[in-house]
Amino acid sequence: MTDIAERFNDRYTALLRSATWKRIHRTAYGDEYPEGTNTNGFYSRTTLQWLCDALRLTPGCTLADLGCGHGGPGLWVARYTGAELIGIDISAVGVAVASEQALQMGLAERARFQVGNLTATGLPDASCDAVLSLDVLIFVPDRSAAAREFARILRTGGRLGFTTWEQSGYSERLGVMQLADYRPILDAAGFTIEAYEEPDDWQRQQRALAEAIIAAETEMSSEISAATSAALAAMAHGMLADMAVRRYVRAVARKR
Ligand SMILES: C[S@@+](CC[C@H](N)C(=O)[O-])C[C@H]1O[C@@H](n2cnc3c(N)ncnc32)[C@H](O)[C@@H]1O
Repeated sequence: MTDIAERFNDRYTALLRSATWKRIHRTAYGDEYPEGTNTNGFYSRTTLQWLCDALRLTPGCTLADLGCGHGGPGLWVARYTGAELIGIDISAVGVAVASEQALQMGLAERARFQVGNLTATGLPDASCDAVLSLDVLIFVPDRSAAAREFARILRTGGRLGFTTWEQSGYSERLGVMQLADYRPILDAAGFTIEAYEEPDDWQRQQRALAEAIIAAETEMSSEISAATSAALAAMAHGMLADMAVRRYVRAVARKR
């Protein structure tokens, strides 16, 4: 198992037990909290809706949510659009929670989840109408391979929607080289960029959430393990430190 899978397995197990996590996330994002996704990402309600609309999914279309985590946002989009959903994540716990969520939401008939790496999904060529990937690409060492895999599984004219952080150089905190601009690798993989922008208010929202995570460390450690609560606080400190050298972007690209 990779370090990242281990980190997220632990986090998904813990966050399910933490009412505090949900409360502080909701408070930090206010009206922009993406209700119904049980999110542990950093996108707003407006950004999720914006991506969902931009993917132009219709009932029966196939959506792949890559780095789906516990499945929340992909299931939200599948329910909203009527799309069939395939979610893939390297966290086995995330995938198990996602499958359970699909059952509870009555979406098990058209949503399936599997453990896997988004750079080699095993999905057939041109088998998807859309690909979604939220807050995942900063963890992926080979983003060109990711972009090529997204293009391979999309049909011509299919769309990719994603959120990520742009940053130059190596991130000690994440242990992965970062990317200052995703557009060149998307173009090289065969995508035409349709939209690429910073969401309104992202800095204030993410700062508020990071500060709330730090302030709630002790409270959360009574719900989850002290070690996980400390790891979340360390992540939040890292986010605050990186704020000045990062840019959060949301993007939609069409496969040529
Ligand atoms: C911040 S979480 C976001 C999860 C989900 N997209 C959401 O918005 O709730 C990042 C996710 O990316 C997954 N991940 C990281 N690298 C991956 C890879 N190479 N292939 C598949 N999943 C990956 C992690 O396991 C984790 O679940």
